[in-house]
Amino acid sequence: MDTLAAPPGGSPAASVTIQPATRLRGELSLPGDKSISHRALMLALLAEGESQIEGAGDGADVRSTAAIAAALGASVDRVAGGNGNADYRVLSPGDGALRAPASTLDCGNSGTSLRLFAGILAGLPMTAVLDGDASLRGRPVARIIEPLRAMGATLDTRDHDSLPPLTVTGRRPLRPIDWTTPVPSAQVKSAILLAGLRAGGTTRVHERVGTRDHSERMLRARGVTVRSLPDGAGGAVIEIEGGTAVQAMKERVPGDPSAAAFWLVAAAAHPDADLVLRDVGVNSTRRAVIDLLRRMGADITEDAVGASPADDAGEPLADLVVRSSELEGIDIGPAEVAAAIDEIPILCLAATQARGRTTIRGAGELRHKESDRLAGIVAGLTALGAHVDVQGDDLTIDGPVRLIGAPTDSLDDHRLAMTFAIAGLIAAGRTTVGRPASASISYPGFFTDLERIRA
Ligand code: S3P
Repeated sequence: MDTLAAPPGGSPAASVTIQPATRLRGELSLPGDKSISHRALMLALLAEGESQIEGAGDGADVRSTAAIAAALGASVDRVAGGNGNADYRVLSPGDGALRAPASTLDCGNSGTSLRLFAGILAGLPMTAVLDGDASLRGRPVARIIEPLRAMGATLDTRDHDSLPPLTVTGRRPLRPIDWTTPVPSAQVKSAILLAGLRAGGTTRVHERVGTRDHSERMLRARGVTVRSLPDGAGGAVIEIEGGTAVQAMKERVPGDPSAAAFWLVAAAAHPDADLVLRDVGVNSTRRAVIDLLRRMGADITEDAVGASPADDAGEPLADLVVRSSELEGIDIGPAEVAAAIDEIPILCLAATQARGRTTIRGAGELRHKESDRLAGIVAGLTALGAHVDVQGDDLTIDGPVRLIGAPTDSLDDHRLAMTFAIAGLIAAGRTTVGRPASASISYPGFFTDLERIRA
């Protein structure tokens, strides 16, 4: 790499250049899981007393959530721990005594902050405005406005109920609802469950396709009654009993499997690689990327790490070892896309190195992430020489292709920045990644780790 993503205190570099790696070796600890870190801070805000969060992800998104928790009345102490993690101590008066924020709540680039705080604010007797950067202002919010309005909250946006900023006026108690999520989305489910905490009765969310279940596990660990019942058709109904206080607790955050995914693909696709990834979260609703890569032939071994149930809110951990592999193309269907929604970009890179065709069906939701990821993947991987085609919501990738270094653009999207940087490790020649600083949205130490494992 010739240049660093962001010199301390300086403006972010416009691009980085990645040279191919001759070998990949080493051991990495990942940043704390982003989804769990957001929820731990939000639930600490709602719980009266002191909560402790160890090893939270220290990316910009989680910091946005921490700043919003402080703006709503919690005292939030953050101690950066190095390698992309931070420990937090949150002292909150509890959700009955939070204060209306003095100004707009800035979610930055974080869709999770926007959607989940909308659910929380729906049950608080105040008016608050949630806003963010240019990317966030382009992301759909109708999916949370409809259920939260049905529960009795008042929500307004700048543009026909579709785009942030989002003004929320809460109401107490809210009405419990029975809601079927049309698009598989853990953010929508979680927004409804967080509002359901303050509803008078049982709120139900029907998920036809399952999504990450951290909110359910973490609410249960904090004393709230949450049930997940199979619906008999492959989906589930999640029920929450309103009116219970969220209890403060201490939680250790597992390493982020979505961050681990970059190294799993780097090593599996590289001809001379052997990497160890420590303490990765392997929750059944987040581990799809591991199982899909194994189905492609990736040599990944997994050793369960004993965790203290009192500290981990029921999130299983494992050490992963990944080595150079012969990959084969596979078919990935819509339910698997939902289960690996954040890992599709890096899985596409794996597919370029796999023998035969990989199809990824029903990936339209990727158009509504931090960027239009379908367009970004096609542009970046095609520039590197890959054979990628999009028809409607389906992607087809034919491999294996010897990638040749070329300019790529992250579109200011962290997962695209990291995908193209990993491509640079396995491509011939120099790959440049435009707007690489976006990696620090979820993985501030990414480029440092990349240099370490090629050493
Ligand atoms: C998240 C859910 C996913 C994911 C996002 C984090 C969460 O979004 O893409 O990065 O923490 O709940 P959707 O569930 O809306 O697809």
